[in-house]
Amino acid sequence: MSQTKPVYASFRSIGAYVPEKILSNADLEKMVDTTDEWIVKRTGIKERHIAAEDEYTSDMAAKACEMAIERSGIAKDEIDLILCATVTPDYFNMPSTACIISDKIGIRDVQAFDISAACSGFVYLLSIAKAFIESGMKKNVLIVGAEKFSSIVDYTDRGTCILFGDGAGAAMVSATSNKEEGIVDLHASADGSYADFLVTPAPGAIHPASQQVIDEGLNFVQMKGNETFKLAVKTLTKDVKEILAKNEINSDDIPHFIPHQANYRIIKAVGDALKMKEEQVVLTVGKYGNTSAASIPMAINDIWESGRLQTGELMLLDTFGGGLTWASALLPFAGKAINQ
Ligand code: UT7
Repeated sequence: MSQTKPVYASFRSIGAYVPEKILSNADLEKMVDTTDEWIVKRTGIKERHIAAEDEYTSDMAAKACEMAIERSGIAKDEIDLILCATVTPDYFNMPSTACIISDKIGIRDVQAFDISAACSGFVYLLSIAKAFIESGMKKNVLIVGAEKFSSIVDYTDRGTCILFGDGAGAAMVSATSNKEEGIVDLHASADGSYADFLVTPAPGAIHPASQQVIDEGLNFVQMKGNETFKLAVKTLTKDVKEILAKNEINSDDIPHFIPHQANYRIIKAVGDALKMKEEQVVLTVGKYGNTSAASIPMAINDIWESGRLQTGELMLLDTFGGGLTWASALLPFAGKAINQ
């Protein structure tokens, strides 16, 4: 009897796009009642990038995708699935941003769809890519987390407008027969009983677009900041401890801990609880703010471009966001390093 060889999903390449315009803390001081000192002390954020008015989520995503494709060495006609994670799609209902991206990068006649898992979106995509590849349904899955978060931020609300930025990050996930290259483990979960912690009330079936929506600002993101903060620290720490214990890996053996970049204090608290050294923890929140589904791939791209991420090195991803959703992943970087 012939036996099919096992297939593993490997993380082949990374790419990211950061819009040009910078919104600094000094700029925000002129817009709301806040100070650079407060923002840096409470969040670690110094600046964030904001997309141009005519630059959309799909534009940023397409640029990140082109980069990830080129760096993977995989031809466009070998890609058989395109997935986008975003909570700021070009259109709220249809078409999906993944469809628009596929057109912009010139890949047609392949399956393409969006998922909504807020800040956990990219790691959720990784789980979908893994399932498609390891079941034998797809071979090369292009995944992208992209957000024009500025399109749902109320720039009169100091509790949220200081946090968020725009950007995109993409990766190629491909089939391999080499187990050493495959994603080691991944855990993704959700708890909808905390849905009101992070919510954009409109537009949607509950509040379709109306004058009332505009008058009451229901189209802007609302967040229970302090409650979200506490739950984020607890959940992120627990999730990482579990994935490390399950795979019998010590936190010392992780060269790159890449948490969701929401707030420096959350990252520090989780890093300390896991006894991570400073050099293990990847930090980009200071220059990009919270870019939701784009935050993890943008951070991976940063360490790749700076030459810090080498082939075969283990990455530990950990994320938390609206839904509430959370996810962690343990995987080697199976692509070429920048200096190779
Ligand atoms: O990506 C998805 C997950 N998202 C997160 O994980 C975000 C989690 N939350 C946070 O990062 C933090 O909760 C914030 C940065 C949003 C807020 O920090 P905090 O330390 O939790 O502050 P707080 O909401 O408890 O507010 C403390 C004080 C309040 O004043 P009073 O009531 O003590 O007088 C706020 O009104 O700070 C005030 N405040 C500000 N002051 C200056 C809130 N925002 C600002 C601001 N500038 N921008």
